[in-house]
Amino acid sequence: MASPSQPTSQKKRILSGVKPTGKAHIGNYLGAMRNHVNMQDDCENYIFIADLHSLTTVKNKAELHSLILDLALDYLALGLNPDKAVFFRQSDVPEHAELTWILNCLTPMPMLELAHAYKDAVAKGIKEINAGLFTYPVLMAVDILIYKPDIVPVGKDQKQHVEIARDLAGKFNRIYGDVFKLPEPYIPEEVAVVIGTDGQKMSKSYGNTIEIFASDKDLKKQVMGIKTDSTPVEAPKEPDTIYKLYSYFASEDEKAALLERYRAGGLGYGEAKKLLLEKVTETFKPFREERERLKNDLSYVKDILKRGAEQARVIASRTKAEVWDKTGLSI
Ligand code: ADP
Ligand code: TRP
Repeated sequence: MASPSQPTSQKKRILSGVKPTGKAHIGNYLGAMRNHVNMQDDCENYIFIADLHSLTTVKNKAELHSLILDLALDYLALGLNPDKAVFFRQSDVPEHAELTWILNCLTPMPMLELAHAYKDAVAKGIKEINAGLFTYPVLMAVDILIYKPDIVPVGKDQKQHVEIARDLAGKFNRIYGDVFKLPEPYIPEEVAVVIGTDGQKMSKSYGNTIEIFASDKDLKKQVMGIKTDSTPVEAPKEPDTIYKLYSYFASEDEKAALLERYRAGGLGYGEAKKLLLEKVTETFKPFREERERLKNDLSYVKDILKRGAEQARVIASRTKAEVWDKTGLSI
């Protein structure tokens, strides 16, 4: 008999989380948020705000509040429909933290020593690496496994974490008996790594982002700040950062036309940036307007998260009961 916390419909169940840590950018949008929203029509969709994960770095109450609400606003403005998707906050579902302890007790330390967030912190020489950062992948594994999703859409940088989730699921199942499903990561290849204004991976931590909800003024500053080489206006050019970013939002014809202008010479980087700016502004304008509207109704936004948590807890509490049963905690 199918376990009660297995997906009940024919639709595939997808799950993903985003950590509220700053202003959403084109990399987050293309690598994660847009895919989550697009999948809501064909899949049983669980999307959550990973606020417990933010606590590894954010230590200020007011800051955490606004980061959480900002991310909720971003998703809703981008079209996440709470009637189609279960949208919630990780901390509203206590089973995430509870099951993390269980999986912590199955996680070999060397596995975590290889995890990239921890390794990066060590490489940077950060002295006070907290245990939360060290066990970050275990909490993420639980986030995933608790809902038994088929697919976990993430950016390439999160693939390792999904693999850790699979390893831990397999280990639990072998030791205690089958509870968890092994999830598949879904990483759309063309947007696996969106590059930033300096040519390396776009990331809040590198200060090279183009923010999707920035004001016109800031957006202009970010786009015009894209680093270019010193090829003169008249010279033919190879597709560069500007072209790559443009191509994410342009039609095939528009892309071909810009490529032709690059190859022909006579197109300066300044003009190419203006074309990109127009594209980005046009793409995100309706989302920005919707976000402004929602900002005036935060109690509506909070209600959505509360309702989502109630729905998520139905599944999370069933998985917890199975885990309690298998491990011997339920007597
Ligand atoms: P950041 O590096 O800016 O802090 P996060 O780590 O918060 O971004 O990433 C949130 C989501 O967006 C993750 O699923 C991540 O894989 C995706 N993502 C972040 N940056 C990029 C990028 N440059 N290209 C593709 N996906 C990205
Ligand atoms: N670690 C992810 C990030 O930094 C966020 C996250 C937390 C997540 N739990 C998850 C993503 C579960 C997918 C599934 O982006």
